[in-house]
Amino acid sequence: MANPKSHIFLLFTTFLLHFSTLSLAQTLFVFGDGLYDAGNKQFLSSNRVDASFPPYGVTVGEATGRWSDGRIIPDYLANFMGIPQIPPILQSTADFSHGANFAVADSTVLGSPPETMTLTQQVRKFLESKNKWTNQTVSEAIYLMYIGSDDYLNYVKNNLNPSDEQKQGFVNQVIATIEAEIKVVYGSGGRKFAFQNLAPLGCLPAVKQANGNVQECVILPSEMAALHNKKLLELLVGLSRQLNGFQYSFYDFFSSIQRRVIKSKTYTFQTGIAACCGTGSVNGTGCASNSVCVKPADYLFFDGKHLTQEGNLQVSHLIWGADTEVIGPSNLRELLFLPKDIAVTLADINEAIAALRLKQNKIESLYDTKKMESEMEYQWFYQVNQAISFLI
Ligand SMILES: *[C@@H]1O[C@H](CO)[C@@H](O)[C@H](O)[C@H]1NC(C)=O
Ligand SMILES: *[C@@H]1O[C@H](CO)[C@@H](O)[C@H](O)[C@H]1NC(C)=O
Repeated sequence: MANPKSHIFLLFTTFLLHFSTLSLAQTLFVFGDGLYDAGNKQFLSSNRVDASFPPYGVTVGEATGRWSDGRIIPDYLANFMGIPQIPPILQSTADFSHGANFAVADSTVLGSPPETMTLTQQVRKFLESKNKWTNQTVSEAIYLMYIGSDDYLNYVKNNLNPSDEQKQGFVNQVIATIEAEIKVVYGSGGRKFAFQNLAPLGCLPAVKQANGNVQECVILPSEMAALHNKKLLELLVGLSRQLNGFQYSFYDFFSSIQRRVIKSKTYTFQTGIAACCGTGSVNGTGCASNSVCVKPADYLFFDGKHLTQEGNLQVSHLIWGADTEVIGPSNLRELLFLPKDIAVTLADINEAIAALRLKQNKIESLYDTKKMESEMEYQWFYQVNQAISFLI
């Protein structure tokens, strides 16, 4: 397959011509940690949950348990899909007709951390809740995942100087559990998986500050994330061959964050080094009302570990609509439209990695927030619907 994009375009066109009504996933299931938590932590913690209080939510005028000044990535993706924000599963009175968010702050893949749900527990919760949705809904839904940061941050705290073999051994354990959980979701009917790979963890303000090293990103945590990301992509390429109808999207979040930390201004931020909210040399910890910046949109990071709403918006645009240099083999918009029984795979792992990295620098340096916003993907969605009704 020479050009995966033209291949998808052909499929897509064929699909449009053959179906008079679009059968679209109207459902989003979210798994992960604090980056995706829409409020679950409040239901699991007996202590004060910072994200339930200002200055969290300050940009939208309400603290909801989201770890940002405003909206998070699943909120924007739901918006682009044309569905309401996906509620946290533990908010039992919520309307789950368009999916559920199982993500919780402090979640890990391995171990049994207190007052959170590991990935395995989140997937179990999904199985327990499955009767809320039809089999068709479950099979057409998007399964969005971001998990593993805290596994590696905890690991580097306890292993200051691991050998290459030890590092790879730990990554393999994390990936083996992710594989098992993907297979559980697949086994219960899930087909469309959207993965965001891990951030360069050594660039998080909290991590820099803890290392007393404020300018440079800390090497070991970022290295663990990079090892994880490579193995995760290998896993997804492998699963798409092994499991009938398994479809995926793999977004290179690592590079997106790295670029925004290094060249913040290119991406509209005043700084990608210090957080908007917190204390210490790079505002790495202790986000509270008396330690918040005036204009969160000028910052990539809101607190020591999480993005501002503006950071989340940029990332969401990339997940939804970016090219294979940033996300592959399909972006979320394509994944959504892909007929269920068709698998799009990149020829091999080298091609997959090359496609993701090669031209990203060029593509992302063209990033223009205003233009992206004016092209709000929901409008695109609307236009396609218009075009279809015209054809019919
Ligand atoms: C839904 O799928 C499950 C297997 O995941 C199957 O046991 C069940 O019979 C299906 N229900 C319907 C109504 O098709
Ligand atoms: C840390 O946050 C304060 C607001 O409390 C802000 O004024 C300051 O510029 C931030 N520090 C850095 C290094 O940006």
